[in-house]
Amino acid sequence: MEKFIINGGETLSGKVKVSGAKNSALKLIAASIMADSKTTLKNIPKIEDVYTMIEVIKTLGARVHMDSEKNILEIDPSSINSYEAPYELVRKMRASVLVAGPLLSKFGRVKLAIPGGCNIGSRGIDMHLKGFEDMGAENIIEHGYIHCRVKGRKSGSRLAGSTINLDFPSRGATENIMMAASLAVGKTIINNAAREPEIVDLANFLISMGVEIEGKGTDCITIYGAKKLCGVEYNVMPDSIEAGTFIAAASLCGRKVEVENAVWKNLEIFCLKLKEIGIDVSSTDENTVVVNASDNQLKPVYISTLPYPGFPTDLQPIIVVLLSIVPGISIVTENVFENRFMYVDELNRMGANIKIDGHHAVIKGTKKLSGAPVRAFDLRAGAAMVLAGLAAEGITEVSDIYHIRRGYEDFEGKLSSIGADIKIAKG
Ligand code: EPZ
Repeated sequence: MEKFIINGGETLSGKVKVSGAKNSALKLIAASIMADSKTTLKNIPKIEDVYTMIEVIKTLGARVHMDSEKNILEIDPSSINSYEAPYELVRKMRASVLVAGPLLSKFGRVKLAIPGGCNIGSRGIDMHLKGFEDMGAENIIEHGYIHCRVKGRKSGSRLAGSTINLDFPSRGATENIMMAASLAVGKTIINNAAREPEIVDLANFLISMGVEIEGKGTDCITIYGAKKLCGVEYNVMPDSIEAGTFIAAASLCGRKVEVENAVWKNLEIFCLKLKEIGIDVSSTDENTVVVNASDNQLKPVYISTLPYPGFPTDLQPIIVVLLSIVPGISIVTENVFENRFMYVDELNRMGANIKIDGHHAVIKGTKKLSGAPVRAFDLRAGAAMVLAGLAAEGITEVSDIYHIRRGYEDFEGKLSSIGADIKIAKG
């Protein structure tokens, strides 16, 4: 059990580079199993969730080679011989459910462990399953597993294109249905689809494999099923949430920090909120965001998390840390997950003054945070605790950092490279 030991109050400055996006890479790995030949993914992040997704497709029988030096992943799906996403892996990482669409599309069947909830919410997959049913699959739930197969015929028969209306612009449901539709017969239309940049990255990947797709990045996506797909070489897009995390760290205790591979357009509402608070943040080019220290008077703000292009829920814990030392009353409303304020008690132990009222966090800005031993409750809450430690007086110990390893490549190394005093210790 590792933990971070952070000595707060250091000024951050210099350049930090963002890795490939976790929430795209996981889906590209899943989609690659639909091809008849090898795929090479470049700019793949070296994070635990990627290693778990590799385990998932290896369990299915795919051959995989990771060149960690070069962040390159090669996937050969031609030896796949299983259609089961086992409980141990789905329990370890919910995103394992994203092999369901590709397996159903390619082999006409999948056996999927039912994912439980997680720290941030119940996280159902009902919209994924309804989408599969609309395309001609039947789902049988037995012993904690969903047996999903194309109705009425032996395994290997194909799904049929259909029009699917999502109750909510769920990313996972949009992605799983896009992949299921990729080898289906005919046209599929997804209405009220998710519009995140990672959805566009997946669409571009599927298009390069041979699928025809219209409307990527809009709330109506049309997929024309292909007969077969071929393996490709593809660059994973940069991680906007990692970029937002470093931009927030610089906003908390930076002099001049340049975040490279930070795409302003993907982070617009986040950066505009920082400007509203009074942070001097700007983009020097399409892929670089700069934060300069300023003596602007910081102001409280209201924030509501929403699906893209709204304020990203994954940066909610991160911005709450910043608002905890902004004078005045700020209010942050969490609309995507029902239980994403678990970390607030830890922050209050560091001297913040935050009250939770239903899905609102009412934040009364305090002058300074003070270092304390705190826990990482999940990936983004963990990163938020580290940022709080950087801004706090004294020593902060963050435990359960395995959560952070799931989605940040070399987090402590990158923070040290811009001046943070952060070390690893055995817990
Ligand atoms: C993705 O989760 C991301 N994970 C999450 O990032 C992110 O917080 C979330 O989208 C929202 O932006 C990955 O991409 C691997 P959803 P996902 O389907 O796909 C409900 C991180 O920190 N819902 O858009 O699971 C669901 O319960 C992680 O990197 C249903 O009820 O999100 C949630 O309340 C955390 N039924 C809401 O919709 C369904 O069938 C949004 O879920 C599907 C979703």
